[in-house]
Amino acid sequence: MSRTFLWALLLMLLIRGLALGQGEGAKVFERCVPCHRGNGTGMIGLYPPLVKHAPEVVMRSRSYLITVLLYGVQGKIDFEGQKTGYEIMPSHYSLKDEEVAAVLNHVLTSWGNDKLLPKDFKPISADEVKAERGKNLTKQQVYEIRKELKLEK
Ligand code: HEC
Repeated sequence: MSRTFLWALLLMLLIRGLALGQGEGAKVFERCVPCHRGNGTGMIGLYPPLVKHAPEVVMRSRSYLITVLLYGVQGKIDFEGQKTGYEIMPSHYSLKDEEVAAVLNHVLTSWGNDKLLPKDFKPISADEVKAERGKNLTKQQVYEIRKELKLEK
């Protein structure tokens, strides 16, 4: 194989990787995989799914979605019968604003989730993440915020 060919191949793989959104968001998402699984399905009784569910959450409240990432949450969550409440969602406060935004946008555009969002949906920005910082919320307080949203049907 010639050197030019190898470079071309490398470049192609790189471009393909970027096109598939395997950027920062996918990288940060690796932290979520042990619980929410690589395909975002979660685990019945333990971890809520992000497939189908994340768009529902963000359309109800962008700030809640960010808040959950920053501070975590603990309480009973029931999405399409996949009840949780025994495990906690850990705080990811140490992530950078850009990383929180990137992972949320990754989740919101993966596994067909993008098709459930309105066409004029604006990606979560680092500034929006910044705005939710400094509140020092407990996981129970986050759950209280969630209850107000009446996400359960
Ligand atoms: C240690 C396991 C664990 C990790 C790691 C984790 N989560 Fe969670 N996550 C949970 C659990 C458990 C819940 C539900 C908490 C409950 O039921 O009280 C949850 C809840 C959520 C919710 C809220 C759903 C709702 O309806 O309110 C979102 C969104 C979420 N996680 C996204 C993520 C993302 C994105 C990551 C990676 C950055 C991540 N989680 C990492 C366990 C985890």
